[in-house]
Amino acid sequence: MSATVEFQNVQMSFEEDVLLKNINFQIHKGEKFVLIGPSGEGKSVLLKLMAGILKPSEGKILIEGHDMWNCLPKDRLALLRKMGMLFQKNALFDSLTVGENVAFPMREITQKSEQEIQKQVKYFLQEVDILHALELFPDEISGGMQKRLGIARALALEPGIIFYDDPTAGLDPITSRMIVELILRLQKELNSTIIAITNDMNRAYQMADRMAMVVDGELIITGNVGETQQHKDPRVVQFIHGYLKGPLTEHTEVNA
Ligand SMILES: Nc1ncnc2c1ncn2[C@@H]1O[C@H](COP(=O)(O)OP(=O)(O)OP(=O)(O)O)[C@@H](O)[C@H]1O
Ligand SMILES: [Mg+2]
Repeated sequence: MSATVEFQNVQMSFEEDVLLKNINFQIHKGEKFVLIGPSGEGKSVLLKLMAGILKPSEGKILIEGHDMWNCLPKDRLALLRKMGMLFQKNALFDSLTVGENVAFPMREITQKSEQEIQKQVKYFLQEVDILHALELFPDEISGGMQKRLGIARALALEPGIIFYDDPTAGLDPITSRMIVELILRLQKELNSTIIAITNDMNRAYQMADRMAMVVDGELIITGNVGETQQHKDPRVVQFIHGYLKGPLTEHTEVNA
């Protein structure tokens, strides 16, 4: 069986700058794959490449064995419909209510009747526990509720592959843990594949079957939680223990 996501010799450049070079990896069905890495190294870009939002400068991106950028438009659309995304900045529609935000992708993409759409909206808002906010606007709800809304919207088309870009950013530790518990519960219920970015190592360990770090244009597959914690690459060691980037010195604070 083909991998759910596969990158073959993918390179990504903006203008002359090479951000990601020769990336090769596979993610399998039902896997929970977590990306970590310093700010600005290309995690969100990598996620957008997987989601078909950005086109690679070179190489192939296969979704369930199909080349996303070398297929018929109708096949590409079918691939895109298999995927849902929670964007780093939520990307909610401020002028639409909570309910309309979730309904939006269904209205745009499916042939569902208004009655069916309303039923689905209520179902997903109930799942993420914000049904009471149905009629409110995004700026009238808390940051944690906005994340829940973003998750409900990402799930609206019942995708098999869900991307979460920094789902706990800016949330307090208790809300963060609850959001990750929600992501994991929904993953089980929908039997989906999830790819998440987080730099909160506790949340990364809570979520991941397998982890990888984006740094210096590379993707270092660090393995499962135990393997990641024992990883020998100094960049991984420094990152997961919160050292500053750069050579270790005898003055480096271990638990800073
Ligand atoms: N559409 C774009 N056009 C040009 N440059 C871009 C574009 N998208 C991203 N970049 C650049 O690519 C680099 C990596 O960005 P990216 O958003 O992937 O970082 P990140 O690892 O997600 O960082 P953070 O942890 O802060 O979210 C940045 O230098 C960014 O400016
Ligand atoms: Mg990012």
